[in-house]
Amino acid sequence: MRHLIDFGDLPREEWDELYARAERIMDAPAQYLDACRGKVMASLFYEPSTRTNFSFQTAMLRLGGTVFGFADPKSSSTAKGESLKDTIKMVAGYADVVVMRTPWEGAAKAASLYSEVPVINAGDGGHMHPTQTTTDLTTITRLRGSVDGLSVGLCGDLKNGRTVHSLIKALAKFKDIRFFLIAPPELAIPDYLRRFMKDNGMPFLEVSGLDPVIPQLDVLYMTRIQRERFIDPLEYERCKGVYILTRSKLARARKNLLVMHPLPRVDEIAVDVDDDPRAVYFEQARYGMYSRMALLADLANQPRIQPGPVEIGHGPVCHNPRCITQTEHYLPPLAKEAGGVRCCAFCDAPLD
Ligand code: NCD
Repeated sequence: MRHLIDFGDLPREEWDELYARAERIMDAPAQYLDACRGKVMASLFYEPSTRTNFSFQTAMLRLGGTVFGFADPKSSSTAKGESLKDTIKMVAGYADVVVMRTPWEGAAKAASLYSEVPVINAGDGGHMHPTQTTTDLTTITRLRGSVDGLSVGLCGDLKNGRTVHSLIKALAKFKDIRFFLIAPPELAIPDYLRRFMKDNGMPFLEVSGLDPVIPQLDVLYMTRIQRERFIDPLEYERCKGVYILTRSKLARARKNLLVMHPLPRVDEIAVDVDDDPRAVYFEQARYGMYSRMALLADLANQPRIQPGPVEIGHGPVCHNPRCITQTEHYLPPLAKEAGGVRCCAFCDAPLD
């Protein structure tokens, strides 16, 4: 693995290696104090973040490396009209690894085409968030011993929630997982992921009620309704507050259920759930730091490789208004095939 853009691209053996390294770090952090000594991480956050930004920074510092970057794009030259390509070429010249979060779908993929150092996708719009997935898988494996064979409920905004999209891509690499996709019809998973699940033989049930399925779950993954992704604010008003997990609802759940959440929470988990031993979302955030340490210990130490020439495009590749190709017109017209459908290689939207 050179870049981490989409968890789907990570071979299962590489995930196993990454997890094994995360475990070694958790068990003996002192042995990793110099794992990134002399290395520099660039942290480009074009969207708000607390956990992802801070856990990447602390991960690098705990490995003996250093960090620079911005958390407010208004303080970067993007505000002066600089293209993503130019920003990345500069930043990759200063850093050994680039971590980026953007509101544009496919932006990390686009950046990886021009970067001579590894690029890590820390969230690209409503598309993917693979290091939240390394966090989630680390949490499940550490607390349950294995990911195989679990019944997993994904609840909330499955349309816009990039953490859910990445997790689905990842769970295709494990065995015997049963999915309950719990969302109102307007927030159901995108078609490309429904196709992905069918193509990969992942059994799933789409339901709109949380209460009836709670007793069957080993993992309940709650998500926030992603207000910032709604084009129509009235639509958000209709959807907000649709699921609220309370202590009384948990009474019918399994004793060893894991209640997870990528955080931030708005109101989808009542505060009285926090003290239930099954609520692991704050521990999950800490596992995120360890899984990012495991990732940086590898990627920040990779050699610089000059990327090859990239074909110059002349306009948007796809119709998705949030695709990076809508604003960065020089990007090459890359397409890929997924489940017999031609898709944009940046944002996964169908092309035809
Ligand atoms: C998530 C994100 O940014 O997608 N947060 C995170 O990285 N832990 C989830 C969210 O914002 O709802």
